Amino acid sequence: MQFLTDFTPELVVASPGRINLIGEHTDYNLGYVLPAAIARKITFNFQRNNSDDRCHIYSKQYKTGFSIDLKSVRRSAMEWENYLLGVIHEITKKTDRLRGFNCTIESDLPAGSGLSSSAALECGLAFGLNDLFGLGLSKISMVKLSQRAEHNFVGTQCGIMDQFASVMGADGHAMLLDCRSLDHTHIPMELAPYKMVMLNTKVSHNLASSAYNIRKSECEEGVSILKAKYPEVQSLRDVNTPMLLECRDRMNTTVFNRCSFIISENNRVLAMVDALRKKDLNNIGALLYEAHEGIRTLYEVSCPESDFLVDFAKKHPEVLGARQTGGGFGGCVLHLVHEKSVTRFVESATHAYKKKFNIPLEAFEVRPSRGTTITYTK
Ligand code: GLA
Repeated sequence: MQFLTDFTPELVVASPGRINLIGEHTDYNLGYVLPAAIARKITFNFQRNNSDDRCHIYSKQYKTGFSIDLKSVRRSAMEWENYLLGVIHEITKKTDRLRGFNCTIESDLPAGSGLSSSAALECGLAFGLNDLFGLGLSKISMVKLSQRAEHNFVGTQCGIMDQFASVMGADGHAMLLDCRSLDHTHIPMELAPYKMVMLNTKVSHNLASSAYNIRKSECEEGVSILKAKYPEVQSLRDVNTPMLLECRDRMNTTVFNRCSFIISENNRVLAMVDALRKKDLNNIGALLYEAHEGIRTLYEVSCPESDFLVDFAKKHPEVLGARQTGGGFGGCVLHLVHEKSVTRFVESATHAYKKKFNIPLEAFEVRPSRGTTITYTK
């Protein structure tokens, strides 16, 4: 199959990845998260192709593409295609205004690294098609339909954080998002003299998607046990530690630990916002380490590689704090490193990691950036 790999676009969309400063797995428990869109992104070029229903999408990264007919959008065996097919499918459920188009995709976001290249793919396509065909979708409805695409076509029962952060991000700010009301506040991220350095473990353990859904159902089990005693409880968001302790005997240790992590992680998000507002750098770092400990021991979504990096960071005073970011089982570890020591620290971490796992570490700085944007329109 021949694809148009280069054409003069009618529309160009930049769709960023995200980091999550803190608040992991709290989104589908309707709690708080504190993510930020980052300058690393997926770029989409679009043009209408004058057909009623033929769509051609080509990935410059994978050097391959696929074609579909809008009348019969089905799941594919290729995971990356499903993020896009899911979005097209969700859009066709809402409107019949979509027509044939050509699209090329280019990315500087490493896939499977916990920076949410999946949400960037979904939201960038939704944004582009919305503009190209004048669909009139609001930002929030594109966020929600992208999340549904992931549920229905990819099979990960993800929360709303990634899509929300990718679309709604603001330069220089993280966003405190209440995942129940979807109220959000942009919080300035002033971390000087520290830089946000991501160390990519380069592992993405393939149990991640099924383990993710299992974590979600363990939390739901916790909620149903808590509800028997506290009927007002709708999600772990409504639970505090004394309530959980009261029900401890009725749940197994795993469910207790999962619930315990979520309750403390929600509190850490609010404590982090407070620390950012007060520029209390030491507390910011301590909260990152504390969160990773919960990720490791209670929620059990870390892995030897990310644990190694966090332990390594703890031995280096130039690092304020570190933790694995994203869904888990690998991906990137966020480090706050003193600006004077970034090069030296990255070198020694790279050396130690290579020695231990024989994997070349990848390091890059990130900064909070704006959400999905149209960068060119004819
Ligand atoms: C993945 C999901 C998000 C969120 C994180 C964990 O990135 O897509 O919805 O649950 O994991 O915080």
